[in-house]
Amino acid sequence: MKYASQDLRDEHDGILVGLDILDSMVSRVKSGHKVEIDDLADMIRFFRTFADQCHHGKEEGLFFPALEQSGVANAKGPIGQMLLEHTQGRSHIAKMAESLKGQTADLDRFVEAAESYSILLRAHIQKENKILFPLADQSLAKDLQKSLLEGFEDHERNVMGENVHEQLHELLHKFQHKYLPDFHR
Ligand SMILES: [Fe+2]
Ligand SMILES: [Fe+2]
Repeated sequence: MKYASQDLRDEHDGILVGLDILDSMVSRVKSGHKVEIDDLADMIRFFRTFADQCHHGKEEGLFFPALEQSGVANAKGPIGQMLLEHTQGRSHIAKMAESLKGQTADLDRFVEAAESYSILLRAHIQKENKILFPLADQSLAKDLQKSLLEGFEDHERNVMGENVHEQLHELLHKFQHKYLPDFHR
């Protein structure tokens, strides 16, 4: 049986690649190398669309409610903590976007927000993978797992559309070549 958490783990892998790219952009900016503002804006779009709307949307709209129904605590519990971290992530993303808005981009501000975002999201993914998902695999009944996986597919279709998913994968791939020198595929 495929666990619903597997789909979310797979998305975490994609988000982590995005964070590697973001980290590489940040270190280039910090060392005085030129990074195109459009590339920074494209990464913001990736995190907004794929990490937040698609992935956090699945967690908040479907996965966490199913967990709560199965007895996992929300307020003062692991779900509440994960929700808080999603909110913090959105605020970092908003700051990154604002930093690029002026006539000249405020790259110091971008770097600060991007570093906070990367640290937050990496730790968040680690907590979900290591603590919340194993708990979910034990707690969610088999039929609930199945209906969650179906719900995830619907969510993806409704929120992203097939094309957007494809485009973001291509974007990631392009940036892997451009920003991750050890990447060969
Ligand atoms: Fe999450
Ligand atoms: Fe997640």
